[in-house]
Amino acid sequence: MANSNLTEAKRAKNDEFYTQYPDIEKEMTAYLDYNPDVFRGKTILLPCDDPEWSNFTKYFAQNFERLGLKKLISTSYAVESKKYKGAYQPTLFETSAPYYDKVKTVQNGKIFTLTDDKTGDRKVNVDDLEGHYLEGDGDFRSAEIKRLRDESDIIITNPPFSLFREFLAWIIEANKQFVIIANMNAITYKEVFPLIKDNKMWMGNGFHAGNAYFSTPFADEYEEGIYNPETGLVKFRNVCWFTNLDHGRRHQPLPLMTMAENLRFSKHKEIQGKQSYDRYDNYDAIEVPFTDSIPSDYDGVMGVPISFLDKYSPEQFEIVGATESEGKGFSEGLWDEKSKVSQPLIKNERVYKRIFIKHKKVKK
Ligand SMILES: C[S@@+](CC[C@H](N)C(=O)[O-])C[C@H]1O[C@@H](n2cnc3c(N)ncnc32)[C@H](O)[C@@H]1O
Repeated sequence: MANSNLTEAKRAKNDEFYTQYPDIEKEMTAYLDYNPDVFRGKTILLPCDDPEWSNFTKYFAQNFERLGLKKLISTSYAVESKKYKGAYQPTLFETSAPYYDKVKTVQNGKIFTLTDDKTGDRKVNVDDLEGHYLEGDGDFRSAEIKRLRDESDIIITNPPFSLFREFLAWIIEANKQFVIIANMNAITYKEVFPLIKDNKMWMGNGFHAGNAYFSTPFADEYEEGIYNPETGLVKFRNVCWFTNLDHGRRHQPLPLMTMAENLRFSKHKEIQGKQSYDRYDNYDAIEVPFTDSIPSDYDGVMGVPISFLDKYSPEQFEIVGATESEGKGFSEGLWDEKSKVSQPLIKNERVYKRIFIKHKKVKK
């Protein structure tokens, strides 16, 4: 029991990492560049946040007027539910707030809202945020937060990775627009891939090369090399944004060479000089080990790394399937009951983390 409590606490602490302001600004700018009115007249909910100092709250409060927001709501999860080890020390900011309560600050979540000018300076910004305690602990699954979800138009956050599937389902069941941070490996989850395949969700603008840096109060929870004491940041690989808001890069076709050109001139030694692309033993498709090696003239199914999705344009490609990181059921024919194989094989070797795509129109 003690052990499972410990594991649970560790898992909870591994959810405590916070997004940097420039990363939020860069991502939101991609949606604004595509549609300057994307947030106009909208109610934005920032759940799983820390309204007092979260950069999501700061960004949207500070840009409230420029974005033309109707209402901003930001909620946090109670300190007690976060499973902090040791006694929690509220900040000076918290203790000096007019609503401060010694017990509630540990047991309850918080909510901050912003709708109009409260300070009388004729500007609506971060100074006009009004905060108080929630009735419950701010769990996104609670009826209290569900009501806020239903009231909002767009949900934006970096949710707890340990509850990612549940969090995504929570958004989808309410049919909301969203921009959320996730691990790229979630692409092959059965709750995630069907949404991508049907163009109901796609990757956002993204972090540079999928490397994201977050601040954390629990540096000791991370292995060496992940936490940098000089910057105070943890580095995660393969991090992306998932969204159903449109952005420009999504409509830029990938420039590609023909198959013959790739076999002759590719910069990748795995392709250059070969007679042909490998074919899978158990699936009618060719293996394309790098996104930039997709042949422009191949009129059939191609297996590409999941990082392809970062370059995916729905006008250029159709997604037909994926390998499965778990179970069976959506891989469009790959799952084999007898062998229990749900990956493509090349000479009996499994190839992991592939998306299967086809050109919409082959260039001849
Ligand atoms: C990855 S952090 C991101 C925090 C903040 N959104 C940011 O990016 O700066 C996820 C947050 O979700 C909170 N959390 C964990 N489980 C939760 C739940 N069931 N309901 C609401 N929040 C939760 C964690 O305490 C943590 O603060």
